[in-house]
Amino acid sequence: MSKPKVFVTRIIPDRGLHTIIQNTDATVWQDELPPPREVLLQHARDCDGLVTLLTDKIDAELMDAAPRLKVVANYAVGFDNIDVKAATARGIWATNTPGVLTETTADLAFTLLMACARRIAEGRDYAKAGKWRTWGPMLLMGQDIHGATLGIAGMGRIGYAMAQRGKGFGMTILYHDAIRNEKAENDLGATFVSMDELLARSDFLSLHVPLTPETRHLINAESLKRMKPNAVLVNTARGPVVDTMALYEALKAGRIFAAGLDVTDPEPLPADHPLYTLDNCLIVPHIASASFETRSRMAEMAAENLLAGLAGRMPPNCLNPEAKPRL
Ligand code: DGY
Repeated sequence: MSKPKVFVTRIIPDRGLHTIIQNTDATVWQDELPPPREVLLQHARDCDGLVTLLTDKIDAELMDAAPRLKVVANYAVGFDNIDVKAATARGIWATNTPGVLTETTADLAFTLLMACARRIAEGRDYAKAGKWRTWGPMLLMGQDIHGATLGIAGMGRIGYAMAQRGKGFGMTILYHDAIRNEKAENDLGATFVSMDELLARSDFLSLHVPLTPETRHLINAESLKRMKPNAVLVNTARGPVVDTMALYEALKAGRIFAAGLDVTDPEPLPADHPLYTLDNCLIVPHIASASFETRSRMAEMAAENLLAGLAGRMPPNCLNPEAKPRL
């Protein structure tokens, strides 16, 4: 019996890729950049399964062009690149990689928080540029982390892990979410507040919401005005949750202290973007889940999801279990 045909849109860690290659007739896109839309469409045409990244748009058009497609295994926990409703309507399972990247992502969010508070990138640049001539009584002063208030927008798995880190630093935890998180309240003493109160009271505001029509530009010119002048904004969620130009204006005018961004809008942020000109904006290229172990585990999960779907079994991390699988 011939093996199912699969297109993998990028080279992913061996622990998952090896399994996929052994068990399927796989084509792996070798370029560093995502396959262009026409290439993706062309491969999808005779594929039984796709392994995709957040940079691949999996919409109704693509699914209609893929009559054999049974499963889309996303190598990410976020899945705003997939039209899950359209997948369900077509009997295609969509999957993601939840859980394994929670702690690693929270590690990076807290790293950004600390680096912005204590001006680490600026200090590094200053020292490297040969400007360090003596101990400066007022040199590169930043914000205290211990004892400060950490606001979490979106108290899901990653928000909770971020709050745990804050708790370890003696921070007061506030949060806002569409649903109350009793575990965070009981375990960490987190206090549920309105979004307005979160903005007004947080010394550090970390975003952990999925990108939906409701969360697009959650942080905009108005919300930035409500934040404290000493506040640090951290975004490891999705770029469009923040209005980029409003953030630029607020940082430039010193309306908030700093921002640490793992995600941007657009992404990638072009090299000549004005945000890069600001010393109080620390930008890294969407690497929150990028530890060796986590990325390997994500690859394993994507492979497990893919192979289950191809075999007609409900994938372990199915986003649309209600989909009636194609025969
Ligand atoms: C995700 O998984 O959604 C991250 O953004 C990348 O790991």
